[in-house]
Amino acid sequence: MTVFSFHINGDRVEVAAPDHWTLLEVLRYRLGLTGTKQGCDKGDCGACTVLVDGRPWLACLTLAKSVEGREITTIEGLMPAHRKSGGAGADPLQDAFDRCGALQCGFCQPGMILSARALLARNPRPTRVEIRHALSGNLCRCTGYTQIFEAVESAVAQACGTTTAARAWEAQRERACEREDTP
Ligand code: FES
Ligand code: FES
Repeated sequence: MTVFSFHINGDRVEVAAPDHWTLLEVLRYRLGLTGTKQGCDKGDCGACTVLVDGRPWLACLTLAKSVEGREITTIEGLMPAHRKSGGAGADPLQDAFDRCGALQCGFCQPGMILSARALLARNPRPTRVEIRHALSGNLCRCTGYTQIFEAVESAVAQACGTTTAARAWEAQRERACEREDTP
């Protein structure tokens, strides 16, 4: 057993765990941060993606001791970080995924959102090709990806005060919902 010292979601955390445990195991089974998903557990699916010093990182392939002292962000840390920086509600990407219906079972969503967050931090106005490339390590077995890419574009559009095809589609859907609600 080793006592690890981490910086997770803005907090300094000390936790005892077996020496050989991965970051994913420590997050889920010691710290209860189960937003980080355990999918393939061998580097194929991206469900375990977290940010380490702002870069997407596969927690299932990372020995916990190798990231001691690094800045780790899990999906649980996004909303608090957004609010700490003066924002309201959820992180805009979380909001956009919700708005665009970019999920079905939701298993891939934390990893997708964190990969997208890292992309927007280094490239605030990515093209569709750049979005596809940035999310190419995150597999989704349900959605077919289109609404995921649209969600990222929607978050970009919102940040820039512009409109995308996805935003136009959202507006159309909102109008349809309003019509359905009208007696
Ligand atoms: S659980 Fe880590 S890549 Fe699949
Ligand atoms: S929504 Fe089910 S895996 Fe992506």
